[in-house]
Amino acid sequence: MSDRYCVFGNPVAHSKSPAIHALFATQCRQDLTYDTVLAPLDGFAGAVQEFVAAGGRGANVTLPFKEEACALCDRLSDRAARAGAVNTLSFAGGAIAGDNTDGAGLVRDIEANLGFPLAGRRILLLGAGGAARGAVAPLLACGPQTLAIANRTGDKAARLAAQFADLAAVDAGNYADFAGRSFDVVINATSASLSGATLPLPDGAFAPGSLAYDMMYGRGETPFLAQARARGAGRCADGLGMLVEQAAEAFLVWRDVRPETAPVLAALRAQIAA
Ligand code: ATR
Repeated sequence: MSDRYCVFGNPVAHSKSPAIHALFATQCRQDLTYDTVLAPLDGFAGAVQEFVAAGGRGANVTLPFKEEACALCDRLSDRAARAGAVNTLSFAGGAIAGDNTDGAGLVRDIEANLGFPLAGRRILLLGAGGAARGAVAPLLACGPQTLAIANRTGDKAARLAAQFADLAAVDAGNYADFAGRSFDVVINATSASLSGATLPLPDGAFAPGSLAYDMMYGRGETPFLAQARARGAGRCADGLGMLVEQAAEAFLVWRDVRPETAPVLAALRAQIAA
């Protein structure tokens, strides 16, 4: 029987993970199945137990369960503990191991796929929720010149920065606090575009040749990237590459083989544009 994997979420029907992992499995000749599981909002732990009892080997976790998944684990990787959230579960020997591949996926997309090394760069991270928190340590590990966090609620950015004070000094504030400062990379980790809102980006945030990166993606240009382009960002990238890279990293955790991501990303891009 094939090894079973799934993604837990609510909602989850829209998830591209089954398609991505099916392509990885074919490419790497791995005998596995990967499905979506709609977990009840108040029944995540039960859904995981059921999947484990049915022989599940591993799972991804998406909104809104990443923090709850973290609490459920018997063991956490360092990067999951730092993120305070888990997107990758492995089930073996009656124990649940948790990892977080989101930040690694972000960094790999920026550095390897986009060819934009982060060492020595000035990075501005927008947002201070779960998506931003998962990105901080992986970004710091790249050795940027500075990392700053801007959030609508400045206090929340300051609290987030303080959690990483042992790794590096991270600047934090609200958007206006960064007026007059320029950055080489500006990463949108907010959920503002879900409500159609644009961000109060500080003037001059985008240095010449800078990269604007949106963790979100969609059929057309995202609101943040449209805003970034109008304000002089040199390059714009959406989060589809991050999605594929975090999946590849999860596949590596489970199967000990790293799939080629370029053909999978190209297939997904074509599917979205169709
Ligand atoms: P996620 O897990 O996706 O990061 P979250 O924890 O709810 O979701 O965090 C959402 C982030 O988007 C927060 O940084 C939030 O700012 P606040 O902390 O000030 O609430 C940000 N955000 C959401 N809507 C926004 C908007 N319209 N303008 C600016 N920031 C917004």
